Amino acid sequence: MKKSKDILLFIISILLFQTAFSQQEDSKSYPTPPMGFMTWNYFGLNIHEDDIKSLADAMVETGLRDLGFNYIFIDDGWQGGRDNKNNIIPDPKKFPSGMKALVDYVHGKNMKIGIYSDADQLTCGGYTASLGFEEQDAKTFADWGFDYLKYDYCGAPPDWQTAIARYEKMAKALKKSGRNIMFSICEWGDRSPWLWGEKVGGQLWRTTADIRDKWSCGETVEEPHLLHGKGAGILDILNINATLTDYAKPNAWNDPDMLIVGLYGKKGAPSSDLGGNGCTDVEYQSQMSLWCLMAAPLMITCDVRNMNEATRNILTNKEIIAIDQDRLGKQAKRVVHNEIWQVFVKPLANGDVALGILNVSDKTQTADINLSEIGIFGKRKGKNLWSKEIISLKRNGKIKVKVNPHETKVYRLTN
Ligand code: GLA
Repeated sequence: MKKSKDILLFIISILLFQTAFSQQEDSKSYPTPPMGFMTWNYFGLNIHEDDIKSLADAMVETGLRDLGFNYIFIDDGWQGGRDNKNNIIPDPKKFPSGMKALVDYVHGKNMKIGIYSDADQLTCGGYTASLGFEEQDAKTFADWGFDYLKYDYCGAPPDWQTAIARYEKMAKALKKSGRNIMFSICEWGDRSPWLWGEKVGGQLWRTTADIRDKWSCGETVEEPHLLHGKGAGILDILNINATLTDYAKPNAWNDPDMLIVGLYGKKGAPSSDLGGNGCTDVEYQSQMSLWCLMAAPLMITCDVRNMNEATRNILTNKEIIAIDQDRLGKQAKRVVHNEIWQVFVKPLANGDVALGILNVSDKTQTADINLSEIGIFGKRKGKNLWSKEIISLKRNGKIKVKVNPHETKVYRLTN
């Protein structure tokens, strides 16, 4: 009797240990790209706790949170300097209730919340940043309860070694803070962070200069650092990020910057400067499609409190979001790239394949794709994830479809 009791206790303790261990591992890892609302493109530096609260409310009411958009990311402009103990503090006019209260509010909505700083003395917006205060600031962010840090690189020296060292320093400080805080590296792809970002403790890294509310800057730019100052549009960012397929995987995501879906050029800087006069709904839908195919972090920046129907339909398409959040965590490979077409193939965890067909030209075109030529074999059915139309591929493994200018068709292909 005693023996069987001992065995039972032994089994229970192993099970408890395993559960505790796996919970700890789960909470530390980021198996799919983060999703949420980011303040930058709509509010710029003019953020206020009331806006952030009402945005969190709207994320819940619109159903966006339950579709996976469960972070509120506070970008630049929140800081109010340091107190007499050098603790970083929020601007008391913008955040009169303090950060802890705001974090609690967002957590109370069953959402997570992110904060922003910079690896030099001042942020890109000219606010207090974290150089020399890494451990102290990481501790403050952790004490407030933040779940994510975007760490910018304005003002810092251009060489790789310094960037690597400064990002590593903050990653270590976050670890030491005792809280799981997702770490987003934002040096705009200038020093190829896909080569070192994961090693220094980052879970995602921006791959390009800041996105503007436009389709393209009209030039072909292949190097991230050459995009600065040109006003990067959806296509320009795509053309850089699409070449980085092999670097994306769970816990390590290429970040092609925020979704501009639904901005319509209406808001002033930052999204509307450098020619950011807005896009068509077809172009916004393409951004959503392409970002999901590329397993990109999905950060909404339009005012979700007042979305029109087109914006809502683009942002709430469950089947498109499922492509982004697929557990295999692969970024689509660009298998065709010419003046008219860009074709993307993303393998999915259950053996399905996502296929994206973008018409880059300014005329409606007919794509005629032989699937075996782009490495897709044995798939019998396809579902157009925007129109929901089912197509049969049985006879010839071909897809023939009209695609409007700047439109991206997305299919989920199954056996
Ligand atoms: C940089 C970043 C942007 C934004 C601003 C804030 O430009 O790349 O995403 O965070 O700084 O000032």
